[in-house]
Amino acid sequence: MEDKKGFFNKLLKKGNKNAAIKNINYISAKELRKISKENRKVTDEFERLRNRKDVPESEYKTKMKNPENVLEIDDLNTYFFTDIGTVKAVDGVSFEVPKGKTVGVVGESGCGKSVTALSIMQLVQRPQGQVVKGEIRFSTDDFAYDIAKTPTEHMQKIRGNEISMIFQEPMTSLNPVFKVGMQIDEVIELHNEGMTNEEVKARTIEMIKMVGIANSDGVYEMYPHELSGGMRQRAMIAMALACTPKLIIADEPTTALDVTIQAQIMDLLRQLKDKINSSIMLITHDLGVIAEMADYVVVMYAGRVVEKGTADEIFHNPLHPYTVGLMASKPSSNRRVERLYSIPGSVPNPVNMPNYCYFKDRCSRAFGACNGAYPPTFAISDTHKVACYHYMDGKEGQDV
Ligand SMILES: Nc1ncnc2c1ncn2[C@@H]1O[C@H](COP(=O)(O)OP(=O)(O)OP(=O)(O)O)[C@@H](O)[C@H]1O
Ligand code: SF4
Ligand SMILES: [Mg+2]
Repeated sequence: MEDKKGFFNKLLKKGNKNAAIKNINYISAKELRKISKENRKVTDEFERLRNRKDVPESEYKTKMKNPENVLEIDDLNTYFFTDIGTVKAVDGVSFEVPKGKTVGVVGESGCGKSVTALSIMQLVQRPQGQVVKGEIRFSTDDFAYDIAKTPTEHMQKIRGNEISMIFQEPMTSLNPVFKVGMQIDEVIELHNEGMTNEEVKARTIEMIKMVGIANSDGVYEMYPHELSGGMRQRAMIAMALACTPKLIIADEPTTALDVTIQAQIMDLLRQLKDKINSSIMLITHDLGVIAEMADYVVVMYAGRVVEKGTADEIFHNPLHPYTVGLMASKPSSNRRVERLYSIPGSVPNPVNMPNYCYFKDRCSRAFGACNGAYPPTFAISDTHKVACYHYMDGKEGQDV
C-alpha cells in the first residue's frame, strides 16, 4: 500500500489525476487472491473456536468490574476481513452502561455504532466480521457473561431474553406474512416454556396495550402492513420488551418516523425502561434526543471513543474538537444562524487508518503533539474522559 501511495503522489505531481485515481483504486487479481486467502485463514480460525462443542463455562464466565453496571465494554475490536483489506469498524472501544441508566452513543455515519451494538448481540455478519479482541461483560441476576467468548447456544438465551434490540426499520424485525400478535406470542413462548396458550395471548395483549396501542385485540389479529409506521415501531418495541430484558439496545429507533411520533416513542421507551427496571443503550444521530434521554454520552469517531461523560459534561463542557463540532452543527431554536455548521473534511479510509489522531486532518486545533501516535485517553473527572492531546494535564486514563 505504501508503494502505491508513493506512486499515487508521483502521478499527481505530474498532473495526471485520472491515472492516479485509477491506480489507487486498482487491486490486481493476484493481490485479491492473496488477501482473500489470508482472510479465510484468519476467519476459519475464529469460526473453529466459535463452533467448538462443550466450551467450558470458565471460558466465558466473568466478573463485572463494577457490580452497578449491566454492561461493560472493554477494548472491543470488531473487524471485517474484506477483499479490499481489513476494516477496523470498532477499534478499541470501551464504555459502560450502569444499571437503570440510559447511555447515548453518537457519532457520524460509519463510525462503528451499529457494529458495536451488533457485537453485543453477537449478530455481526460472519464469517467476515469478527470480534478479534476485547471483552463484553454482561451481568444477569446470577451470572456475568463475557459475550465476546460466549458460545452461540448460550447467546440464544441471552438475546431477546436478557438483551433486546430495536432497529430503525421495524420491517426488518417483523415478518410480513405473520400476524403481529402471533409474532409477539412466539417471543413470549420461546422464553417462557411453561405458559399455556391463553396465558401467552394475555401477555401479548398486555404488551400491545403497554406500548400505547388502544385497539390491542384488533392489532393482535393484524398483519404488519396493516399498521402505520409509528404503530409498527410500537409493535416492535412490544416484541423487544416482551421478555423484560435487562438491556435494551435501540439503534436509531425513530429515524424513520416523523417528529411528533418520534417524541411519543421516546417517551414510551423511557417509561417502559423504568417500568421493567431496564437500561438503554441508545444509538442516534439526533443530539436533541440524546439530550432528553441520556444520563451518559459516548462520542465515537472512526471506530473509537473520542470522548465520554455524563450528559451534563458532554453538553455543557464538550472538549474534543470533534464533539465541539458536533455540538455546533446541532440546530437550535435560540440561536440565529445563516447556515448550520458542518465539520469540514471527511473520515479517513477505514481500511487504511493513519498512525496519528484520526481527527487530525479535519482538526482546526491540531498542534505539534498531534503528529505523534494516536492520543491516549485523559481523565478530566471520574466520568469525563477525552482522547485529545490538548488535555494532557488531565490524568491519563487506564481504561478507554
Ligand atoms: N458487513 C460488513 N462488511 C464490511 N464492512 C462493514 C460491514 N458492516 C459494517 N461495515 C463497516 O463498518 C464501519 C462501521 O459501520 P456501522 O454500521 O457500525 O456505522 P454506524 O456508525 O452505525 O453508521 P450509521 O450512522 O450510518 O448507521 C463502516 O465503515 C462500514 O462500512
Ligand atoms: S489530538 Fe490533536 S488533532 Fe486530535 S483532536 Fe486533539 S487537537 Fe485535534
Ligand atoms: Mg448504524
